[in-house]
Amino acid sequence: MTSLQEVIINKKTNINPIWVMRQAGRYLPEFREIRKKNTDFIKLCLNPILSTEITIQPLKRFDLDAAIIFSDILMLPYGLNQKVEFKKGIGPILGTLDLKSISKLEEVDFVKKIKPVYDLINLVKNHDLTKDKSTIGFVGAPWTLLVYMINQKSPKNGLKNNFFKDDSLINKTLVIIQKFLKIHIKNQIKSGAQIIQIFDSWAGLLNEKDYSNYIYTTTADLVEYVKSFNVPVICFPKGIKKYKEYCEIVKPSVICIDYEVNPKEILRDIKIPVQGGMKPEILLTNKETIKKETKKYLDIFKDHPYIFNLGHGILPETNPEMLDYLVKIVKNY
Ligand code: CP3
Repeated sequence: MTSLQEVIINKKTNINPIWVMRQAGRYLPEFREIRKKNTDFIKLCLNPILSTEITIQPLKRFDLDAAIIFSDILMLPYGLNQKVEFKKGIGPILGTLDLKSISKLEEVDFVKKIKPVYDLINLVKNHDLTKDKSTIGFVGAPWTLLVYMINQKSPKNGLKNNFFKDDSLINKTLVIIQKFLKIHIKNQIKSGAQIIQIFDSWAGLLNEKDYSNYIYTTTADLVEYVKSFNVPVICFPKGIKKYKEYCEIVKPSVICIDYEVNPKEILRDIKIPVQGGMKPEILLTNKETIKKETKKYLDIFKDHPYIFNLGHGILPETNPEMLDYLVKIVKNY
C-alpha cells in the first residue's frame, strides 16, 4: 500500500504523506522550459510523453508521496468539442457552447479525442519513480465545469449577469457534464489512477441555498460512482461555508480544505481523513514562518488521518527550494 492509501483506507495517523496541488507547473524552471517550446497548452496535455515528463518532474526533486497527472479540468469541455484556449495573463477562454451538437456526441468520440490523457496515466502509473507512490487522477466538479462552460472564462471578476437566466440550458448542460465526467473517471481508473480528486474550485461562488442543487446532489453521485470501483475520492469544495454538511451529504473518502477554513473546527467536526489547508502564500515568506505554519497543521492533525497539502495550488512565484524545505519538515516531523 502507498502512504496515501494507508491514511485513507487504514486511517493511519502516525505517517504524514505529502503532495502539492499544481506540483507540476510554472514554479519549476524545467516545466517552463518545456512550456516555452509548447505554446499550445491543450496540445501539451495531449502529448503523453511530455505530459508524463512534466508529471514526474516534481518527483525527481522532492520526496513527494503522489504523482498528480499533468492535465486540466477543462479537458472535459475540450472533449465535448467546446473550444478551449489558454491566453497568457488572462487564463482559459472557452468558445460558445453548442448544446445541440454536444447532445449528439457519442462516448467513443469523446474518449478518442482525449485518449492521450489515458495513455499518460498508464505511463505515469508504470514509471519507475511512482513505484511506491499514488497516481492521482482528477476531474472538475460539475458546478465548476458548468461555470467555465457557460461563463466561457474564469469567473474571478464574477459570473455573467445572465448566467442563471436559462434554466433549461443549465439543466441540460449539467446532465451532459455528469454523463461525460463518469466516462472520464472510468477511463482514468482503468488506465491506472489509484485515487480521484474532484476539484470544485468555484464552490465559493454559490449562496448556501444553492449548494444542494449545484454541489451536493451532483458531487454525491460522482463520489458514489468513484467508490463503486473501490477507488478513494478526495473532494475539494474550495470556498464552501459548510464543510461538515458537505461531508455528511457528499461522503468523500477524504476532504481537502482550503486556507480560509479553521483547521481546529475541521478537526472537531469531521471524522474522515483530511488533506491540505496551508495558505500557498506561506511558501513565499521565509523558512521560519514556513516551519511554524507547517507544524501548526501537523500538530492540529497529529491524531487524525491527515495528508499534507496546501489550501490551493502552489503559486508560480514560489521558490522550489522552499517546497523542498516544506517536504523535509513534514517528513521529519
Ligand atoms: O500539478 C497538478 O496539480 C496537476 C495539473 C493541474 C493543472 N490544472 C495544470 C495546469 C490540475 C490539477 C489542474 C486543475 C485545474 N485547472 C483547476 C482546479 C484547481 C484550481 O486551481 O482551482 C482549474 C480551475 C483549472 C482551469 C485552469 N487551467 C486555470 C484557471 C488555469 C490557469 C490559467 C492561468 O493563466 O493562470 C489553467 C492552466 C493550467 N493548468 C496551468 C497548469 C500547470 C498553467 C499553464 C501554463 O500557462 O503554463
